[in-house]
Amino acid sequence: MLIGFPRESKPGETLVATVKTAVQVEELGYEVVVERGAGVAADQSDEAFEAAGFAVVDAEAVWSSDVVVKVNAPTDDEVTRLRSGATVISMMAPARSPELVERFRDQGVTALAMDAVPRISRAQSMDVLSSIANVAGYRAAVEAAYEFGRMFTGQATAAGKVPPARVFVVGAGVAGLAAIGAASAMGAVVRAFDVRPEVAEQVESMGAEFVQVDFKSEVSSDGYAKEMTAEQEAATAAMYDEETRNADIVITTALVPGSPAPRLISAETIAGMRNGSVIVDMAAANGGNAAETVADERVVTENGVTVLGYTDLASRLAAQTSQLYGTNIVNLLKLLTPEKDGQLKLDMDDVVQRGITVTRDGALTWPPPPVQVSAVPAAAPAAEPDAPEEPEKPADPRRKVVAAALAALAFAGLAAYSPPSFLGHFTVFALAVFVGYYVIFNVAHALHTPLMSETNAISGIILVGGILQVGSDNPVVTAFALVAVLVASINIFGGFLVTLRMLEMFRKD
Ligand SMILES: NC(=O)c1ccc[n+]([C@@H]2O[C@H](COP(=O)([O-])OP(=O)(O)OC[C@H]3O[C@@H](n4cnc5c(N)ncnc54)[C@H](O)[C@@H]3O)[C@@H](O)[C@H]2O)c1
Repeated sequence: MLIGFPRESKPGETLVATVKTAVQVEELGYEVVVERGAGVAADQSDEAFEAAGFAVVDAEAVWSSDVVVKVNAPTDDEVTRLRSGATVISMMAPARSPELVERFRDQGVTALAMDAVPRISRAQSMDVLSSIANVAGYRAAVEAAYEFGRMFTGQATAAGKVPPARVFVVGAGVAGLAAIGAASAMGAVVRAFDVRPEVAEQVESMGAEFVQVDFKSEVSSDGYAKEMTAEQEAATAAMYDEETRNADIVITTALVPGSPAPRLISAETIAGMRNGSVIVDMAAANGGNAAETVADERVVTENGVTVLGYTDLASRLAAQTSQLYGTNIVNLLKLLTPEKDGQLKLDMDDVVQRGITVTRDGALTWPPPPVQVSAVPAAAPAAEPDAPEEPEKPADPRRKVVAAALAALAFAGLAAYSPPSFLGHFTVFALAVFVGYYVIFNVAHALHTPLMSETNAISGIILVGGILQVGSDNPVVTAFALVAVLVASINIFGGFLVTLRMLEMFRKD
């Protein structure tokens, strides 16, 4: 199939197709064509595409491809250039763009929305909203540092002490956590709040302190925050006022899907901030979390507070965001091209593929059925609404005694009819179970995967046993030994590879 990367028509768009993305797409068996000038906004020249062996063509040739991959939703004119039966992959906000969805249907195309990838762990590698929010959060901290007339880090110098900047981050989703990470890496003292208290641990792991407010919040079934009740709003308003007035920098990221951004920082609070303070409102595109925010503008209030409402934060790091977007695209195409034969196959039984399919060959498939997402905290066991609460019955102690007696009897029987070496082996086995149990439960949950992959080396015992038996005269024993050697080797080398990959994720170089 032919895949075309058109030039983005949205004015000022800096996210583009990259040569690396084109190469990776070609490796999946597709033929790739690129529109002239498609990559220039992020240093991807036509010559670079040509040098990598790609045809750089005019718009018409790109838009008549079997699959068109782009960043922004196609314009009306662009939709009419798609041929019936073609597939278009881009961000397209289908929930907010019913007319666009209808145009896809009328054009008879398959439209896949990159910004509708369900929030499940398996889909993380294709989640373009996370990629963009991550870069934007980092850039928000950089913009704040640039506007702020002082250093973020505290210093004790011969010329006097410099206090660290105080940063308050509102909303600890992907963007908020990235902003926290960047601000604390620059040396600021960071505090953060989110209506979802379960993110406190993530906030702390990024180097910030989680601000506690005493109320119970809810998360919707799709993993996003729900709108707050009046009672919750009153409890948080005082906290926002106090935290904002105490901060030098405020970075707001609070969003509730399907609703305008919640207004959290009032004009009165901003009026009480110190001269030179900075607010970066990352919710500006949805109306803003702060009272003085104007989308895409830099506003300086009467008391000298700078309020940034930039909505293009990720595009300000164009090369990086383009590269991440490209990787998301390649990961999606890998899912859609299981045979790596350059043939796009849409499996509507797969939740990820179903979730992003807006129209299929001109048939409307939006909205998809809801998906249980990984961001939703585990539900508490439901209680019968009107049933009187029964006191918990203590377990009958006799049952334990009977079970222990039966186990002892079974063991005695087994020992009586087993070879003498059995007791020795069994003692080692029982001790190993105890030691293993206590070792594993004393290791932090986050480290269980590397621990498990390391302990795969225990398969070395099987490997040694298998090697000893390979030379047996009995061909059955030899065959079993060979299989044991093979499986144990996979376990050992695979375990070390997994450990290596995990450790590499923590390396800064
Ligand atoms: N594939 C995946 O598994 C996947 C992908 C992306 C995000 N996620 C998870 O989904 C969750 C939401 O991520 P997001 O960044 O896209 O969220 P988002 O952009 O929808 O919202 C940003 C944050 O604002 C918070 N918020 C909303 N109203 C608020 C208020 N009044 N005051 C303070 N905070 C408020 C939300 O709880 C959220 O954390 C995160 O836990 C994230 O890790 C999972």
